[in-house]
Amino acid sequence: MKISIIAGSHRREAESQRVAHYLHRVLEKMGVGNLYLLSLSGNPLPLWDEGAWEDDPQWHALWGPCATELRSSDGYVIVAPEWSGMVPAGLKNFFLLCGTDLLAHKPGLIVTVSASQGGVYPVAELRMSSYKNTRICYIPDHVVVRNVGQVLRGDQAADEYDSALRARIEYSLRVLLEYAAALRQVRESGVIDLNRFPYGM
Ligand SMILES: Cc1cc2nc3c(=O)[nH]c(=O)nc-3n(C[C@H](O)[C@H](O)[C@H](O)COP(=O)(O)O)c2cc1C
Repeated sequence: MKISIIAGSHRREAESQRVAHYLHRVLEKMGVGNLYLLSLSGNPLPLWDEGAWEDDPQWHALWGPCATELRSSDGYVIVAPEWSGMVPAGLKNFFLLCGTDLLAHKPGLIVTVSASQGGVYPVAELRMSSYKNTRICYIPDHVVVRNVGQVLRGDQAADEYDSALRARIEYSLRVLLEYAAALRQVRESGVIDLNRFPYGM
């Protein structure tokens, strides 16, 4: 079982990145040995251009290693901060680069991050607009990390909210792992035909 975690903030000292590392540690403790963490902090991936579809050597060098890791994953955790009520542009760019096959028919857990009481807009945005061509299958559960500055620090929960959030994260990751195992059957069924139907409607 391999899970990829995408930390979707461009900020260098992003809280989303810290949350992504926390999720990484939880998955490790759960016994998931194969993990890949792609952080968009510092904008490692340029904005999509036609070269990404044309086997451009520069794109090949930059995106190729990420694509290999993503292709071999069974499920994804998408960590998205709320920026102006939206998902950061770099995360949307990531989904453009993923194209139609890397994430297809594999489960995704959405984890959103807010410094205050936000976090629901990115959930709605991802559920509405990032799956059509990627075919990522968001599981029904998601996690909203509010007041991120005060939670998920160290091994011990700081208070009741931090403790409840840690329990919710662990539960949601366990659900993700079950979907990851179950959806293999769909991909191996022989029904999926991305050559004939590359794009969703
Ligand atoms: C450009 C920008 C816009 C933001 N807009 C919102 C927002 O609409 N709602 C919100 O709850 N937090 C907003 N925040 C604060 C984030 O919740 C905060 O930065 C948090 O740490 C998650 O983002 P990060 O992973 O980039 O650190 C914004 C932050 C930035 C940098």
